Amino acid sequence: MAQQQKIRKAVFPVAGLGTRFLPATKAVPKEMLTVVDKPVIQYVVDEAAEAGIEHFVFVTGRGKGVIEDYFDIQYELEQMLRERNKNAELTLLAGLLPKAGTASFTRQQVPLGLGHAVWCARDIVGNEPFAVLLPDMIMSADKGCLKGMVDLYAQTGGNVLAVQECDPEQAHKYGIVGVGEAVGEGFKITQMVEKPAKGTAPSNLYINGRYILQPEIFKILETQERGAGNEIQLTDGMLALANSQEFAAYPFKGDTFDCGAKDGFILANLAFALQRADIRPAIEGPMKALIASLK
Ligand code: UTP
Repeated sequence: MAQQQKIRKAVFPVAGLGTRFLPATKAVPKEMLTVVDKPVIQYVVDEAAEAGIEHFVFVTGRGKGVIEDYFDIQYELEQMLRERNKNAELTLLAGLLPKAGTASFTRQQVPLGLGHAVWCARDIVGNEPFAVLLPDMIMSADKGCLKGMVDLYAQTGGNVLAVQECDPEQAHKYGIVGVGEAVGEGFKITQMVEKPAKGTAPSNLYINGRYILQPEIFKILETQERGAGNEIQLTDGMLALANSQEFAAYPFKGDTFDCGAKDGFILANLAFALQRADIRPAIEGPMKALIASLK
């Protein structure tokens, strides 16, 4: 088996407007909304770190400066915590801080679409395969989604997308893949269809927001026309890349929460809170009572 180039860099496109979360996103980027006690973006960065990512590339935009501050030292706060002997809090903050020089920030001045946001990271990524993680999709599983993809990539090379089952009735809302021959824990992708017309989807497996891509995607995105929603779409770029390169799929087995939407965000809060031994006892009973009282 050929030795694959290690996936060292991950791109986090965080420049979207987050209109589904207005009015909150007027002042707070949706990536900074908290699931239990951590911002959404932290879950995704943790997933990338678990997969061996060494360099974290954030494509930010107007009003997203707080994300950069979040991944920096907060000197006054830490001084205060030290003076008050808040050692557990200090350790927590130190553990979350990326090592110096391992986080880069670039700007997408105009939110022209996900494909354009990824293209904005081209100089920082350079000529090597890389991961893209949509920060509003957060996942819960024993083995992180990107870790599973990196393991599959070691066998397949090329491009790898994570996919997950959806209700076939809902397939028209997603990017859906066609299922080819099995490889390792995944399979070769025979086709990708963005939002297939009802009843025409090649499967019920949707692309859930995690990608390993070869750097040739940048050249394609550079001249990519606007597509659906008048935005430069990553899916269109991947379709063009699929003419010359292989795509494999990693069927992710855990739960995915779309924190870009209100229902997904609320469910994520409930699910992650119920996983916490310090919180579950206090909320389980009241949650059951709330549900029982529903009319
Ligand atoms: P979404 O379409 O879910 O994000 O894009 P959005 O546009 O911020 O959300 P709504 O629909 O207005 O509520 C998926 C991811 O791609 C990023 C977003 O920040 C989000 O993480 N994105 C999207 C960009 O970075 N730039 C863009 O131009 C578009």
